[in-house]
Parts: sequence; C-alpha cells; structure tokens
Amino acid sequence: MTGKKCKVLLVGQGAREHAIAKALKRSDLELYAFMKAKNPGIAKLSTKVKIAKLNDYIALEEFINDIQPNFAVIGPENPLAEGIVNFLKDKGVESIGPTKTNARVEASKSFTRDLMKKYNIPGIIEFKVFQPDSKDQDIIDYVNKLGKVVVKRDGLAGGKGVKLMGEHLLGIAEVVAFCKEIFQQGEPVVLEELLVGEEFSLQCFVSGEDIVATPIAQDHKRAFDGDQGPNTGGMGSYSAEDHLLPFIQAKIVEEAKEIIRKSAKAIKEETGQDYCGILYGGFMLTTKGLKLLEYNARFGDPEAMNVLPLLKTPLIDVFNAMINKKLAELNVEFEHKATVCKYLVPEGYPVSPKKEEPIDVAVEKIINEGADLYYSSVSELATGKIITTSSRAIAIVGIADTIEQAEKIAEKATTFVKGPLFHRKDVGTKALIQKRIDHLVELNIL
Ligand code: AMP
Ligand code: GLY
Repeated sequence: MTGKKCKVLLVGQGAREHAIAKALKRSDLELYAFMKAKNPGIAKLSTKVKIAKLNDYIALEEFINDIQPNFAVIGPENPLAEGIVNFLKDKGVESIGPTKTNARVEASKSFTRDLMKKYNIPGIIEFKVFQPDSKDQDIIDYVNKLGKVVVKRDGLAGGKGVKLMGEHLLGIAEVVAFCKEIFQQGEPVVLEELLVGEEFSLQCFVSGEDIVATPIAQDHKRAFDGDQGPNTGGMGSYSAEDHLLPFIQAKIVEEAKEIIRKSAKAIKEETGQDYCGILYGGFMLTTKGLKLLEYNARFGDPEAMNVLPLLKTPLIDVFNAMINKKLAELNVEFEHKATVCKYLVPEGYPVSPKKEEPIDVAVEKIINEGADLYYSSVSELATGKIITTSSRAIAIVGIADTIEQAEKIAEKATTFVKGPLFHRKDVGTKALIQKRIDHLVELNIL
C-alpha cells in the first residue's frame, strides 16, 4: 500500500477487542470501531467509532460506506454466528472471522462433534445429541451408559451453559430436569462423558489449511478463589515464558496443533469454505489422553490478553497474510515472556452483578507498575466517567520473565482500580499452579 494507510474495521467492545486494537495500533494504520457501548480504550485508539448494536446491519453498512475499510476483524462469537462475515463480504469487505457456516464450530457443539467423528480427528469425546422431543428414558439410558455426564446446550451460551454431573447436577433426575429446561427453549442438548484432567487453551490463526499457533494459556472459569462458585466467562488466565505450561509439555501442544490442523482441513472439505479467522481449541489433558472440549471461532477472552501483547510480528501483517492466503509464508514470532491476566468484575458477578456503578481507574499507576489494562464491559459516559455494565469490567495484565513475577505485577496493579469490583487473587499463583500439577500427578498423567 503506497501512501495510503490501511483502514481496519474492528467489531466488538470487550477487552479482547481492546487487545486486538492495541496490537494493531502498534503499526501505522487507521482503526475504526463498531461497538455497542463505548469502550474508552478502543475509542482512544480509533480514528472514528460507531456505537450501535452489533447486528444493526443498516448502521454497519453506513459505517463501511463512510470509511471504506480494507478489511474487518470480528471479535465476539455472536456476530460471527449470525453471519456478519457473509454480510460484509457481500458489501466487498473481507474479514478476519469465519463465515456463518464455518462459525458453527463454536455455535453448534453437535456440528463440531459430528465433524470430528466424520473426519476421524483425534481428541473426540463420547457424546450424543438429544432433540427437544427426546424421551426421558433415552436420556436416562445414555447417562447410565456413560456413568457421569456433562450437559451442554447445543448453541452459544457465553461459557455458562454447561453443567457437570456430580457438581451442578446431583443425580439422573436433575440431569433430565436440566435437559427439559433447555428443550423448553427449543434447543437440542449435547450429553457427553465427564472428563477429569487439566485444561488449556490453544488459539491459532487459521487461513484455509494453514495454521499458526499462539502460546498456550490457562483460563479460570470459576468465579471465586480455589476454583469455587459458578462458571463465568473467565476470571483470568496465564501463560508461561516457554509458551508451554508447567504441566503441559511440548508433545501435548503438538498433538493439540495437529487436531486444529486436521479440523481446519475438515471444515474446508465439509463446507467448501476456507476458514479464515481464529480457531481456539479448549483442550483437556485427561486420563484418556488429550481431548477437545470445545472450539471457539475467535480469540479467547481473557486469553487474547495473554498472547497478543507478546506478538513480535505486527498483527496487521498476520491478518493481511491470512486474507491473502499467504499465512504459510509468514514467520510469526512471540516474545518469550510470561503473562498473567486478572479480571476485575462487578460484585455479584455472574449471578447478580452490580450495574452502572462508577469506577475509578488510575491508568498511569497501573502502567508505572509495569502492568497493562484492557477495558471490557464498561461504558464511558459523556462526562468521561466510567461505569460498570453487567459483566467483566477490566482486565489487568502483568508481563515478566516468569509467571511468578507477572502475577505479582498484575496483583499489585489491581489495587489501582477502585469500585465495587472483585477479582481472583489466586490466578497465576505458585500455589494454584502446584495444585494443577498435583492433580495430574494424582491422576497418573504426569
Ligand atoms: P465449554 O463451554 O464447553 O468450554 O465448557 C465450559 C467448562 O465446562 C470447560 O471449560 C470445562 O471446565 C467444563 N467442561 C466442559 N466439557 C467437559 C467435559 N466433557 N468434562 C469435564 N468438564 C467439562
Ligand atoms: N476464555 C473462554 C472463552 O473465551 O470462551
């Protein structure tokens, strides 16, 4: 591109999109943000913002006609599942993000499970899909066959649609009752074997059959310290300087990459459409080997904040290579640093979060501490005041040579955000990581 700056349209308003915005703006380009609430961090980095519902295609079309972007980056899963990429393509704008058909890897758990089965991809879990007209006895028989099960909605549930037997559901009767609750909403249910092990996230840039892996990270789904409380969108995550985890070796990561590579190829074969976007595998190392729990068709939130700040290769180069189908030619590099991300969330989250509460963010103090911050579900009012909405508010990230140092930086920096918020103090701590190691030793996996 000679003389003219590249124009990138970014869709979404969370911390993940703030992390994408920051990584893009390390290059000299113009960013345009389409978001449903004004994320102050993204707004500051953008040439222009448009506030509208993400499925307001009239507003979106006006915005693209106005800015004429070179391409778009779609952050969250809902617009992908609804076909925003198809809409933009019709208007002549390519996207980083899969088409509606391909976004089913996340939007339909049964699509992914069936695909893996059909294409003989390793890592598959024993599962069965039950339609809303299923008989109770069929569910009972299947639960008896598997022993313990996990009950999932087939569609998108923001990470909160999964219930585990023995934990959230105490017996078969409760499993059946939860299935019926989902059936009443007209949705199928996926029942699958309950696995035991340790989880990690592998996020890959994917363009057709080419994949580039980012460092693996581990998220913390439970709301409270010690992995207690309800499931959330993710309370924090960490990654290690060697791009592995203290309990996940290189061999396992290679296996996970192979599963993603085979899946990208299978998607192309199955749908006839190249997958262009992020493919994030939620893996679990179990007593039965490496298993894929789920795919996401986008970066993780919080895991985007672990990997994007480490990119040495400009993100714009990676995205351009993906769109131009030249990803295999690019050498994508990451810094060998550890990261710890801690989410500050409203009191009461995720069950009854305190909304519209003002918070005070001492940005300079956070930066001086060597940490970084990413705004998530907050809104900046015309007065400049920042208020919480109903979800995770601010992600604080520490980056250092070791996880231990990164954790200390992140923890200290959380004290510079004031308001009715809480966070998990144990994310990235030595004690919690040791617990993960001990767990795998106990299971005879390590
Ligand atoms: P998902 O939305 O599929 O990622 O599930 C949310 C969380 O539920 C995962 O991160 C796991 O902690 C847990 N989970 C999901 N599927 C299983 C499974 N088959 N066995 C054990 N835990 C699971
Ligand atoms: N970290 C979980 C997710 O992004 O879905």
